[in-house]
Amino acid sequence: MVEEAAAKESPAAEPTAASAGAAAMIDARGLSKYYGPFVAVHDASFSIPQGQVVAFLGPNGAGKTTLMRMLTGFLAPSAGDARIAGFDVRKQRIEASKRLGYLPENGPLYPDMTPLELLGFFGEAREIAPRTLKGRIEAVVELCALGLVLEKPIGKLSKGYKQRVGLAQALLHDPEVLIMDEPTAGLDPNQIKQFRENMQRLGRTKTLLISTHILQEVEAVADRVLLIHNGRLVFDGPVADLEENGSLDEPFYRLTRELPAAPTAAAGGEASPAP
Ligand SMILES: Nc1ncnc2c1ncn2[C@@H]1O[C@H](COP(=O)(O)OP(=O)(O)OP(=O)(O)O)[C@@H](O)[C@H]1O
Ligand SMILES: [Mg+2]
Repeated sequence: MVEEAAAKESPAAEPTAASAGAAAMIDARGLSKYYGPFVAVHDASFSIPQGQVVAFLGPNGAGKTTLMRMLTGFLAPSAGDARIAGFDVRKQRIEASKRLGYLPENGPLYPDMTPLELLGFFGEAREIAPRTLKGRIEAVVELCALGLVLEKPIGKLSKGYKQRVGLAQALLHDPEVLIMDEPTAGLDPNQIKQFRENMQRLGRTKTLLISTHILQEVEAVADRVLLIHNGRLVFDGPVADLEENGSLDEPFYRLTRELPAAPTAAAGGEASPAP
């Protein structure tokens, strides 16, 4: 069931050479998450090649965070598997995590640490050589404009600064793949602009999956859209294919208002839609 789950509604979901394995940098194969009879994510399959910037859209409760947590190995799927740069995120966790930067939904942990301590801690945990680490910390501090708050405990930082620390942590080891859950939530307009420019630059060489509720952000940074509704992928394709009259508002509204596909037996019983 898992391997055959690739085709979805969209033309871009068609398997490519990359989706067969090696060249895919983010690979989801039949990922599902059920909480009892409740369907959080059902049978999600897609493959993202190197250098693609993909926006992950969906209303509140659609399953974005759940799917991202499965892709990054932080949540065990009920079915299916995920690969980062060809490495299984559960069976080859260390290899996968070397190539992956993940910004979780609620920013960084460890409120008692300062940003400098946190970056040092993650750098050591990732076994970055001290001399390289110094340069990497300088680079992400500059990129995320953290210079003013380096010595302040993270728990005392404003929401936007916490988010910037999370971004810096995700970028610290210069990963090939970045998975970011609402990275611009809470950022001020200057930082959003800066972030988009950074993503456009990073997207030239890296593979990015970014969830967002800001549809203009999709048009600004993404090549492709994955749209999830009630735990099911309802669109996977180029941004231009989803747009109507140059906007994503109406198609988003329509696709996420429609009822989900009939529940399948895969949940082991009646499948409840997401709230
Ligand atoms: N541990 C859990 N037990 C039961 N249900 C859960 C659990 N974790 C998540 N869910 C449910 O799974 C669904 C998907 O949640 P998820 O956080 O993935 O949505 P999301 O698309 O990220 O939403 P948002 O845009 O609000 O961040 C929600 O209905 C949520 O309540
Ligand atoms: Mg979420």
